[in-house]
Amino acid sequence: MDGFDLLVINGLVVTASDTANYDIAIKDGKIALLAPPGVLGKESAKRVIDAEGGYVMPGGVDTHVHLEEPALFGGKGRSSDTFETGTRSSVCGGTTTIVAFAPQAKTIPSLLAVLEDTHARAKDNCYTDYSFHMLVGHPGEQALSEFPRLRELGISSLKIYMTYEALQLRDDQILDILLASRREGITTMIHAENGDVLNWMTRKLEERGLYAPKYHATSRPQIVETEATNRAIALAELMDAPILVVHVSSPSAAAHLRTAQTRGLPVYAETCPQYLFLTRADLDRPDFEGAKCVCSPPPRESAADHDAIWLGLANGTFTVLSSDHCPFMYEDREQGKKSILSDAFPEGRFSGIPNGCPGIETRLALTLSANRLPLQKFVEVTSTNAARLYGLYPTKGTILPGVSDADLTIWYPPGRLGSFKLTNSMLHHNVDYTPFEGVELNQWPRWTILRGQVVWDRDGGGLVGKKGYGQFVRRGKSTLPGPRKSGDWDVSVF
Ligand SMILES: *[C@@H]1O[C@H](CO)[C@@H](O)[C@H](O)[C@H]1NC(C)=O
Repeated sequence: MDGFDLLVINGLVVTASDTANYDIAIKDGKIALLAPPGVLGKESAKRVIDAEGGYVMPGGVDTHVHLEEPALFGGKGRSSDTFETGTRSSVCGGTTTIVAFAPQAKTIPSLLAVLEDTHARAKDNCYTDYSFHMLVGHPGEQALSEFPRLRELGISSLKIYMTYEALQLRDDQILDILLASRREGITTMIHAENGDVLNWMTRKLEERGLYAPKYHATSRPQIVETEATNRAIALAELMDAPILVVHVSSPSAAAHLRTAQTRGLPVYAETCPQYLFLTRADLDRPDFEGAKCVCSPPPRESAADHDAIWLGLANGTFTVLSSDHCPFMYEDREQGKKSILSDAFPEGRFSGIPNGCPGIETRLALTLSANRLPLQKFVEVTSTNAARLYGLYPTKGTILPGVSDADLTIWYPPGRLGSFKLTNSMLHHNVDYTPFEGVELNQWPRWTILRGQVVWDRDGGGLVGKKGYGQFVRRGKSTLPGPRKSGDWDVSVF
């Protein structure tokens, strides 16, 4: 058994199911075999990486990433990361596969056309492997009729919105989507906030002249998210269709999701570092700096809210921890956070601040450094479950010899880096800030490997991957439980 391309030795290999000392042999971009330490001679491979006791994990899978999107959300904001800069940032933070969005505006009837456009933007530009979720803004006859073709093209998920004027769907439109998705084995991701209620709240605040960034949180209290989450669960139960509620921030929304799961419904949930590390006090940073942390739903009140989200990650309520990377420049007066400043509104208007925070590169290091999850759970929510839910498993999300791509994130031996502060100058995105500036870290990926190629080598050149090495990955059906096919009526009659 020789002729491997790469050996990773002396690592503590952590997957969602096991933690053990193995050496890993890689050939032709795949995991070839795992062996007890020292069994594979160093001479059996062209290159050897000594992990020196550091964790070796399946490459991160980030399934909530906005890149190079047209402006659909109202306001002037425009993504500052392209597929090139976003995926560059991704590999430097240990994430080897991303799923970005292919957004359909209300004026475009065809999803296939949107998919083709998005392919053209990503092709030959990515450092990571990648796929797309369809973002459905116009679920008309044509779009719904294209679902079977989407599956043939390797797309098995879509996202819809219960808010944002340009994208908000009515409940009956959501039922149309759920029914068609269920039929084709597509997972529906839902942004659950009640758009009508938060528009009303916004109007009332503005009538009183309350415009500062911090009122973004006031306009979207937890109950706005909780109500919509509960409604999304009800609609999914009616259609017996699997859903994932994206970027859950509120403990009460999480509790509803937990109850639905306990009842056996195929209801999945996602949260993000914003809801573990930021609070609404960050929206009140002096000058206009609070705008840096404006995202929806907003960061919540206190450490108690963070604790509830951590608990939900540990106890299985949250299936995945994604970044919701949504990059806007801060200083940019044309397309960034500051585009809302004007003479008439010197402190801006919270309702028009481009919504979103960057985080594709910081997701893994922040979460691992916080040391609040068992290691296997960390791998499960940052890689394995995302691969399972979105039809990438076991090619991605695990280390299965003969089957999985050789995508690895190799960390420093625990304690080696000491403690250091995160700062934006360490990052490789095209954004002039990180909302997590100053957070204490004790880990960072030392090497990132994508299909057997080292693409990030922190001590040996940093970014060493090449733009265009990343490939589109055709996805299959979710391998997590789907429709229950029971109940007192049969949705197939519709
Ligand atoms: C699991 O976490 C969720 C979300 O915080 C919480 O609502 C639920 O009570 C927790 N369940 C248990 C059994 O601790």
